[in-house]
Amino acid sequence: MPSGGQKLVLLHLTDLHFGAPESAGHYWNSEATELRLAEHNRRGLLGSLLRDLRKERFEPDLVIVTGDLLDRGSDAGVPLAIAFLRALAEGLGLPVTRVVITPGNHDVLRAGEPEGRYALYDAIRSGLYGDARPPFPPGTPPHRRVDHFEHDDLGVEVVSFNSCEELEPSAKQEHGSVGVGQRDYAEEVLRATEGRGLFRVAAMHHHLESPVGVVRGDYSVMDDAGAVRRWLAHRRFHLALHGHQHVDWDDVREIDGWFLSITAAGSAGVAHYGRKDWHLPIGYQIIVIDGPTSGRRMRREYDPQTMEWVAAGRGEAVQTLRFGPAEEAEAEAAIERPRSAPPAAQKTRFAVHLEHVERAIQSQRASFRVHLACLGVAMLIATAIALYLSLAPDFQELPSWVPPAVGFALLLAGSVSLPRQFASYKETVDKLRFLQDGYQRCMAQPDDELLRLLDERFHRLI
Ligand SMILES: [Fe+2]
Repeated sequence: MPSGGQKLVLLHLTDLHFGAPESAGHYWNSEATELRLAEHNRRGLLGSLLRDLRKERFEPDLVIVTGDLLDRGSDAGVPLAIAFLRALAEGLGLPVTRVVITPGNHDVLRAGEPEGRYALYDAIRSGLYGDARPPFPPGTPPHRRVDHFEHDDLGVEVVSFNSCEELEPSAKQEHGSVGVGQRDYAEEVLRATEGRGLFRVAAMHHHLESPVGVVRGDYSVMDDAGAVRRWLAHRRFHLALHGHQHVDWDDVREIDGWFLSITAAGSAGVAHYGRKDWHLPIGYQIIVIDGPTSGRRMRREYDPQTMEWVAAGRGEAVQTLRFGPAEEAEAEAAIERPRSAPPAAQKTRFAVHLEHVERAIQSQRASFRVHLACLGVAMLIATAIALYLSLAPDFQELPSWVPPAVGFALLLAGSVSLPRQFASYKETVDKLRFLQDGYQRCMAQPDDELLRLLDERFHRLI
């Protein structure tokens, strides 16, 4: 954290998707309403952002751009991305080293030799930083393409992960991952700042969890998201930022006594990837770190009609983030908030937990129904076998008690299994109902004791 009680301000942009102007991929260079205007009346993404930041009196200390700088690996997007990032830094009065970038799936080429897959991303990286940050040595494997930004003057460090490490031509899915190899390597990198008490931020492209309450159904959550979340909490990361599906999102996870805030911004640039198909607006977010345990995020979205940015308008205008040791964060939160009003971030967490609980109840129901159906089929088969053994001429020499005994044994097995399955189903559903009722009660009025119990059971059950 900056010394003297100063706040740290982060500008989070993601999924810029720069491409050829004629490719209709990017709202600001291919499709914006303002393209119909005379050039002197256009602001473009850069002018528009800088204007809004000034208007809202946001003075970012750091800019973090979480991937998909390009659209579908577009060569034409490279100079646009470099020009935008450099001019943004200049417009904010920041050195380029205060701009953090991460690779996204659209920045990594899927064809050709593995050596060349990061060529466009590396071109952007070199074009942005010049001599200020050395390029990755030739042949650096994907899992060691981890960028570490230390800013002692700001009291913050940012680790830029490569969540595209396993994306390759044969990979059909876009889920991304930060595998154990990359995590091990990041641990080596983090040794440089161990013990300095820096506020630790993780930046990556892909999702660390599945957001609920928004239109898209496929959120491309990282294959190893659970393991990465735990690792981030254990390595004392305070904040994780990502993009990818253009969803504006935040969640506060309590993992083994540590609060990790996870948040995504909407895409700041695209025409089609999300904006039209999934009704997701163009957006960016400002994150203010108020102290080592608390922060806020302000979400802004672009109104094409007025060509101005406005408060995002979904949920609270300002959303609360929690970081660090759970006890300290909870104590601070208890002082700050009246008991009758749970903060927005916590409400979001309740909503996510409720969604998980409801899904778990549905899944229990479905699996019990399947079990019942299987049992019914098994009983029919048992009856058929018993009838066959009684009537088929081949088995006429069997003792007369065998067919009914076989049928009876199968029916007995089924009838013993059914009550046991039902008892187990009922017990699990009762536990889930308890969680459901509890979270609903906490939504209305926070109860720290109950919440602790619920969270403990939630992590055990789900
Ligand atoms: Fe993406």
